[in-house]
Amino acid sequence: MCETFILSLDQGTTSSRAILFNQKGEIVETGQQEFEQFFPKPGWVEHDANEIWTSVLACVAEVLRKADVEPDQIAGIGITNQRETTVVWDKHTGKPIYKAIVWQSRQTEGICKELREKGHNELFKEKTGLLLDPYFSGTKVKWILDHVEGAREKAEKGDLLFGTMDTWLVYKLSGGKTHITDYSNASRTLLFNIYDLEWDEELLEILDIPKAMLPEVKQSSEVYAKTVDYHFFGHEVPIAGIAGDQQAALFGQACFDKGMAKNTYGTGCFMLMNTGEEGVTSKHGLLTTLAWGVEGKVEYALEGSIFVAGSAIQWLRDGLQLIENAPQSEDFATAVDSTDGVYLVPAFVGLGTPYWDSDARGAVFGLTRGTTKAHFIRATLESLAYQTKDVLDAMIADSGIDVSTLRVDGGAVKNDFLMQFQSDILGVPVERPVVQETTALGAAYLAGLAVGYWKNKEDIARQWRNDHTFADSMEVKKREQLYSGWKKAVAATREFK
Ligand code: G3P
Repeated sequence: MCETFILSLDQGTTSSRAILFNQKGEIVETGQQEFEQFFPKPGWVEHDANEIWTSVLACVAEVLRKADVEPDQIAGIGITNQRETTVVWDKHTGKPIYKAIVWQSRQTEGICKELREKGHNELFKEKTGLLLDPYFSGTKVKWILDHVEGAREKAEKGDLLFGTMDTWLVYKLSGGKTHITDYSNASRTLLFNIYDLEWDEELLEILDIPKAMLPEVKQSSEVYAKTVDYHFFGHEVPIAGIAGDQQAALFGQACFDKGMAKNTYGTGCFMLMNTGEEGVTSKHGLLTTLAWGVEGKVEYALEGSIFVAGSAIQWLRDGLQLIENAPQSEDFATAVDSTDGVYLVPAFVGLGTPYWDSDARGAVFGLTRGTTKAHFIRATLESLAYQTKDVLDAMIADSGIDVSTLRVDGGAVKNDFLMQFQSDILGVPVERPVVQETTALGAAYLAGLAVGYWKNKEDIARQWRNDHTFADSMEVKKREQLYSGWKKAVAATREFK
């Protein structure tokens, strides 16, 4: 009999990917396609949902062709996605009525501010574990209903559907038959009560969003639908796992026990700690979120969200054209011994954990006549590590758990300089796994569990392999001195508005 695989669709912020995994949890082949980023106004970020859909199909075609695998060799499909990004489409035509508003986009700050001023912040936090920040989907849905002509009436008549990217892709893959999401994605909408595990009527009323638009919420690992016979799936393949990318990475890193944490360096940077079957309420600017619903129970996580990480490196490459490719940033950073006192705060779309400052914008400090491109690039890389330190400190303060090692993944973990500096600034060893595509791996595991490709979580945990541990080697005094410079830079950035 032919070998079978799990196909993971990783729909990210700047590109879509399709990755085939074998039973050992190894990557067999990858397909990838970037898509356009729209910046209609400062601080706004949008995507074309149809372009995303076709990019996913192109990735599937690419991966199957490169791996020489037939659709009937795919045992199941797992979907993982940039979270919160919001699309609203017409139920009858399947056409989006507006561009997808991306998680990074700040266009709903006005709505959030008004709700905060009315004193709603605590209510939203209590029920959803989130804050009234433009980051989350709820105010994006409201914005679309308020701004697209005729949208609200249509929504009230039940003619519109809302979805995050998981929902949109399942809808398209199933030929428009299935409108669902999973717990992890629902928990990022600002509309879902993470304790009652239901869409919250009171919050929907405050945001004036008709419930009929919302998808049905499912477990993160179960067969939701089968693909219809699009070219690549002449075969009906079960879609069997869904999780938002950060929760999928937590699963892919096998952080199954309470207190285990991972940090993913993607477009943004997201640290999640598994807190087991109980949600922990943060006092330090972290979010409480659903990790997943698996084997009939839900588990929670504490999350620190950094909006700009890998996208700062992309900005060095595409915006400033200081480097030709991301790996070059490491060559420049290691060409100098330090940043020579330069700090870069990449608050391009505001600041997330622990500051939650929507209006802050990026800044550079400490420039001298001697500052070179290398110092500037190094300061950009170091900003990822400092932001992570802000988050880890909040995590330890909230959970009372002393994180003894941090598992890392995502594109930027290939950068040895960054990983070593990360460990030095945290004072904690950083563990980089062999498979660094843990987001896609997590979605594959969720799908594989549902179709019996893997037996259970223990089976999966045994597959985790360490590639390299970066041990911290910086003197405490130096660490404190560097970090206090960062804190001053952040304070000054926030001051300048
Ligand atoms: O919450 C946003 C997050 O899901 C985006 O992830 O990997 O595109 O930085 P990423």
